[in-house]
Amino acid sequence: MENNKRSSFTGKLGFVLAAAGSAVGLGNIWRFPYLAAKYGGGIFLLVYLILAVTFGFALMTAEIALGRKTKLSAIGAFKALNNKFAFLGYLAALVPIIILPYYSVIGGWVTKYLVTFISGNGLNAASNGFFDAFISSTGEPIGWFLLYLGLTALVVLFGVEKGIEKVSKIMMPILIALSLFIAVYSIFMPGAIDGVLYYITPDFRKFSITTVLAAMGQLFYSMSLAMGIMITYGSYMKKKVNLESSVGQIEIFDTGIAFIAGLMVVPAAYAFSGGDPAELGKGPGLMFDVLPKIFDNMYGGQIIGTLFFILVLFAALTSSISLMETVVSIFCDKLKMGRKTACLAVFILSVALGLPSALGYGVLDGIKIIGFPFLDFFDFISNSIIMPIVAFLTCIFIGYIIKPKAIIDEVELSSKFRRKKLFVIVIKYIAPICIVAILISSVLDAFEIMKI
Ligand code: TRP
Repeated sequence: MENNKRSSFTGKLGFVLAAAGSAVGLGNIWRFPYLAAKYGGGIFLLVYLILAVTFGFALMTAEIALGRKTKLSAIGAFKALNNKFAFLGYLAALVPIIILPYYSVIGGWVTKYLVTFISGNGLNAASNGFFDAFISSTGEPIGWFLLYLGLTALVVLFGVEKGIEKVSKIMMPILIALSLFIAVYSIFMPGAIDGVLYYITPDFRKFSITTVLAAMGQLFYSMSLAMGIMITYGSYMKKKVNLESSVGQIEIFDTGIAFIAGLMVVPAAYAFSGGDPAELGKGPGLMFDVLPKIFDNMYGGQIIGTLFFILVLFAALTSSISLMETVVSIFCDKLKMGRKTACLAVFILSVALGLPSALGYGVLDGIKIIGFPFLDFFDFISNSIIMPIVAFLTCIFIGYIIKPKAIIDEVELSSKFRRKKLFVIVIKYIAPICIVAILISSVLDAFEIMKI
C-alpha cells in the first residue's frame, strides 16, 4: 500500500517551497508573458488576478485538502471517496502525459539559447529571424529536445532529483533577483514605458471570452492545478500545517514571479515592435525573440544572458522532473512496471509525442490540427479542454458529491478557514457555471478556426 510508507514534509516552509517549486517553471517565465502580450496586456493581467484569488484559491485548497484527507495521490483519492469518480483521477493523470513532451521541446529551446550564450554567440540570437530560423529547421529542435528530455529522464532514473532540488532552491531566489533587474532595465528602455502601460492598464475593449479562457488555462497550468499534482502534494502534508495560508503563499509566489516575467518581456516586446499587435501576438516564441535583444542592449549582456538561461533551465528542469516523476509513478502503479522499465517507456512515449511538436514549425508546418501547429495543439487540448473539464468535475465532486464540508473540515483541522464562504460559493456555483460557459465557447472557437 502506498500510504504505509508515505513520508511527509517537515513543516509549513518545506511544504510551501516544494509546492511552489513544482508550480514555478516555464509556465511563469515563458508562457505567462506571451499570453499577456497576446491577449491585450492589462486586461489579461486583471482577469488572471481575479481568477487566481477565486478559482485558483478554491481549487488549490480543494486539491491539497483532498490529498491530505485521503493520503493518496489523484487516482486513488477520487476512488477512495467515491468509486464512480475514479475516472476523474485517470483524466487528471492524462494531463502530465500530454504536457511533458511539449514542455521538453520548450526546455530544449532554453538549452539551445543557453549554449548559444555560453559559446559567446548570444548576441547573434538578438538578430531578427534567429528564433524563426531555429524552430523551422529540422535537426536542431529535435536534438535539443532529446537532450533536454534525456537529461530529465536521467535525473528521474537515478533518483537524484533531491540534488537538483537543493541546487534550484538556491537558484530560485537568484532567478527572482535577476528577473527583477532585467525587468527594471527593460522598463527604462526607450519606448518601453508605453509597453508598461499596455501591460498594467486594462483596456476593456480588448475583453473577450478567449481572454478568460486563456487566463484560466494559464492559471491551471502555472499552479499545476487540475492534473492531480496538488492532490499528491497534499497527501504529504502534515495535519497541523496551516492549509489556507499555505495556499495563499504558493499563490503569491507563483503569481509574483509570473508578473515579474511579464514585466521583463512585455514592455520590451512592445518597444521593439512599436506596439504592433501581430508581433505582440507572436505566441510561444516571444520570450526567445525579446530577451536576447534586451541582453544585446545591456552592458555585460552576454554574461547576464548566460546566467539568466542557466537559472531558467534549472527552474524548467525541476518542473519537468516532477512531471516525469508523476507519469513514471502512474506507469509503475497502474501498469505494474518496474521503475526502470517505466522510465524507459515514458521516455519513448514522450519522444513519440514530442517529435511532432519539435517539428511543427518546420517540416511539419503544413500540418495543422484544428488550426494549430502540433505544439500549440497539445497545449490547447491540455490547458483549454482537459484541465477545465477536470476542474469542472472536481467542483461538482466536491460541491455536490462529497459536499464542501468534507474539505472545510479538513482545512479546519489546522486553522480557522477564513475564506470559507468564498470557497463554497466558488466551488458550488461560480466555477462550474463559468467553466462550462467558457468551454463551450472555446470549442466553438476552435471549430471556427478549423473552417478558415
Ligand atoms: N506549473 C509548471 C510551470 O509553471 C508546469 C507544470 C504543469 C508542472 N504541470 C506540472 C510542473 C506538474 C510540475 C508538475 O511551469
